[in-house]
Amino acid sequence: MKKIKNNILWLFATAILSVVFVQCATPQSITAKTGVQLWGENCNRCHNTPTPTAFTDANWDVALNHMEIKANLTKMEAEKILEFLKSAN
Ligand code: HEC
Repeated sequence: MKKIKNNILWLFATAILSVVFVQCATPQSITAKTGVQLWGENCNRCHNTPTPTAFTDANWDVALNHMEIKANLTKMEAEKILEFLKSAN
């Protein structure tokens, strides 16, 4: 009887853990987006989309640190945008 109870407990624990892991995984819709897409979708929400040529690489580093927080971007999104901006300036 005790064994069955333990088994049921394990089942619950595993079920809860898998739900937690599934929710923590970054959705495909975000990981699949390119830097250009993320830039086009996010950087015009509050001001005109800044063109890549407007700043140097060093300036973009600083700006993206700041805008990552302001725009509520994930580290991965900010890095993709930064990579694009640096490749196109
Ligand atoms: C939630 C609103 C918001 C979003 C989204 C946003 N910005 Fe900004 N941005 C601001 C505000 C407000 C300022 C000016 C005040 C400041 O610097 O905090 C600013 C300033 C800037 C500046 C400085 C401009 C200058 O002339 O010095 C740059 C560059 C910039 N944003 C780039 C971006 C990029 C790139 C993105 C996309 C990743 C982005 N912003 C997304 C609100 C936003």
